[in-house]
Amino acid sequence: MAQLVGLIVSEDDGFRKHIGRLLRAGAVPVSVIDDAAARSGLLKDGMTPDVVIVDIRSDAASAMASIERLRASAPGAGVFAVATTAEPDLILQSMRAGANEFFVFPPAEDTFYGAIRRTAARRETTHGARPATTTLVFFGAKGGAGTTTMAVNCGVELARTAKRSTVIVDLKPGLGEVALFLGVKPRYSVLDAIDNLHRLDREFLRELVVKHKSGLEILAGSDHFDRPGAADGTAIEELLRLLTRQYEYLVIDAGSQINSCTIAALYASDQMFLVANPDVPSLRNSQRLLERVRELGAAGERVRLLLNRAAEPYPIPRKQIEAALGHPIHHTFPSDYKTVSAALNSGVPLAMVGNSELAAQFDLFTRRVIDPDSQPAAPPAPKRNILGLDKIASIW
Ligand SMILES: Nc1ncnc2c1ncn2[C@@H]1O[C@H](COP(=O)(O)OP(=O)(O)OP(=O)(O)O)[C@@H](O)[C@H]1O
Ligand SMILES: [Mg+2]
Repeated sequence: MAQLVGLIVSEDDGFRKHIGRLLRAGAVPVSVIDDAAARSGLLKDGMTPDVVIVDIRSDAASAMASIERLRASAPGAGVFAVATTAEPDLILQSMRAGANEFFVFPPAEDTFYGAIRRTAARRETTHGARPATTTLVFFGAKGGAGTTTMAVNCGVELARTAKRSTVIVDLKPGLGEVALFLGVKPRYSVLDAIDNLHRLDREFLRELVVKHKSGLEILAGSDHFDRPGAADGTAIEELLRLLTRQYEYLVIDAGSQINSCTIAALYASDQMFLVANPDVPSLRNSQRLLERVRELGAAGERVRLLLNRAAEPYPIPRKQIEAALGHPIHHTFPSDYKTVSAALNSGVPLAMVGNSELAAQFDLFTRRVIDPDSQPAAPPAPKRNILGLDKIASIW
């Protein structure tokens, strides 16, 4: 699915927050650019908005002038006018100025998302040349759940077998391990990218990434313990937006902490993979994280639950995990420490160290990423139930 760039034109902070949240929360990922940045260079590469929401509630005359200006500078964009009431005269003026849609504030979610879907569909037919990028975010239910293992091996499979241009971004501050897992030595990190966003074009990006022999490109994690941190969320959002213009697949290792950077990644995602192990701490955290994701307004339908290190007997049966989390398990990866650690210690991804059940599952999983209609892997049948659902519920 293509990611849209959204621009909100309003002087009202409350309006910007409300519409920003709506834009980010829908099934079609929209990343929101800052109006001030847009004013200074609206048509900078990668910043042309696909959808513009114009607040026409207070000063209709200047709002109409804004719509005309935006229509001229971004002819393919969907322009939405948002008014206080649906006065026929105002609707007519907005349409004449170049708006495609008209809403009364606050817009009803279903009609608003219908308009976003129409805009995305229109953009796909008119901007056929712009490749659609899929953003995959891997997020750990807890530290050590296998998030980096999942992200790295999925990235390698996308680049190696599917031959898709793929970049993996390590967002974990301090000691991100993506480059280590892949046995590459990066010269630059994600910090060099976010500190130089103004010059981040294709050439500069080529300098910053390091290429693995599978074809996967890596934007390595920083070695600062506190960066990327709370103050870097907006820069990360912009970085991800710029990357979607260069690659077919964007794979993000978001670690297991929710902060402004991981929230930016969640909002940008087409699919967010929550990596959990079939144990009580992992599932309790998953439940809390899913709740937080819902509070943040990121679309729940983008969440996919991955069960890693799933060895029989499962401490908690699959059905109970699904019931407790309210999400089906999207894919299950067996526990195979020998294979994973051999791959890790040699810096060679699983799929490249020989045949194993785990490598086969990554192959299947990646095929489902590319073609969501392909068949899921048959889950290993649970044999024994140690904890009952009521017992789990009483634990958290
Ligand atoms: N399916 C698996 N079977 C056996 N061991 C695994 C499996 N997946 C991951 N591991 C091992 O678990 C450990 C943690 O994996 P990984 O580093 O991918 O987790 P993480 O969630 O990214 O951790 P962190 O929170 O430190 O970033 C590693 O030693 C890895 O080799
Ligand atoms: Mg990790």
